[in-house]
Amino acid sequence: MNHGPLIFLGIFLALAASWYGTVVAPLLQFGHQQQVTVGAGSTRYPAARSGQAQRGKDVYRANGCFYCHTSQVRQSGVKFDVVLVSAGTNKADLISAALLIKPGITADEARKLIEQAPKPLLQGVTRPKADAAAKALAIPDVKFEIILVPVGGDVERGWGSRVSVAQDYLYEQPLMLGNQRIGPDLTTIGARQRSAASHLLHLYNPQATVKGSTMPPYRFLFEKRKAGPRPSPDALQLPAEYAVEKGFEIVPTEKAHALVAYLLSLDTQMALFEAPMPTAPKQPELGASTNQTSTAASTNTAAANQPAPK
Ligand code: HEC
Repeated sequence: MNHGPLIFLGIFLALAASWYGTVVAPLLQFGHQQQVTVGAGSTRYPAARSGQAQRGKDVYRANGCFYCHTSQVRQSGVKFDVVLVSAGTNKADLISAALLIKPGITADEARKLIEQAPKPLLQGVTRPKADAAAKALAIPDVKFEIILVPVGGDVERGWGSRVSVAQDYLYEQPLMLGNQRIGPDLTTIGARQRSAASHLLHLYNPQATVKGSTMPPYRFLFEKRKAGPRPSPDALQLPAEYAVEKGFEIVPTEKAHALVAYLLSLDTQMALFEAPMPTAPKQPELGASTNQTSTAASTNTAAANQPAPK
């Protein structure tokens, strides 16, 4: 019997299925992703990099920085904070609501809590708990906010306020996610360390800025020059113990400047629809309007809550 056509069909289907799974399905999911407008203004995200930062990315790649540094913030889930923004005038109702929300506190403690508004009533609770609190706080005049707070190891380490999503990598070509974390994640380093001078010093000699750092120095990105009568404006300010001999100075090369421009461009601290970030509760004077940002899970005034059936 001739099994040829059957074998051919089997191989064809296996290849077609893997092509669909690895090429077509991701293309349908992410292929049309574009820059989005974020926040109240007209900020476009992600912004295209400057030419210098783009060259810096090549330096980053050429020197294998991604062997030790990842570019991906992980998040294990979200929790909610319920924040009392303004206590309004109906104190008695609010106190009984507070007692309901925080069982175990006394009426006196509840009164004190309310007087401190804006003040978080609950922190790090689940959605049903936050919803129950929102129901209890639906009192005329009382303003409160429910804030969504991403949680997870990377967020707690301070490497970012939210999970990394596909949108963050729209212009990353090539994408250097990294798979080992010998050093910290650098997804938001541009927001964490804004000083170009300290980045340069750290690259020249990591131990000059971080005692006991195990990061290798990148001295070849710098030039040792005879100092003129006046030091060059971009000569490194080395601490005394690492200073070079008198009459010389250390000057970053164009590559070092480009690399630092790239590091400073790494900033994904931007709230997206699919990856909200926690926001500070609005002050009552500014007026808490409803659902303006995608960052607060819901921004409610009691007035907005009124029609809700009891
Ligand atoms: C052998 C591993 C290794 C390599 C390669 C490496 N680093 Fe690091 N890096 C570290 C370690 C460990 C730390 C943490 C200690 C410190 O801050 O110096 C660090 C810290 C950093 C920090 C500070 C991070 C923070 O959260 O403050 C930056 C920025 C950085 N590295 C950039 C780079 C760049 C750019 C390169 C490539 C030119 C590079 N690293 C290559 C290991 C490495």
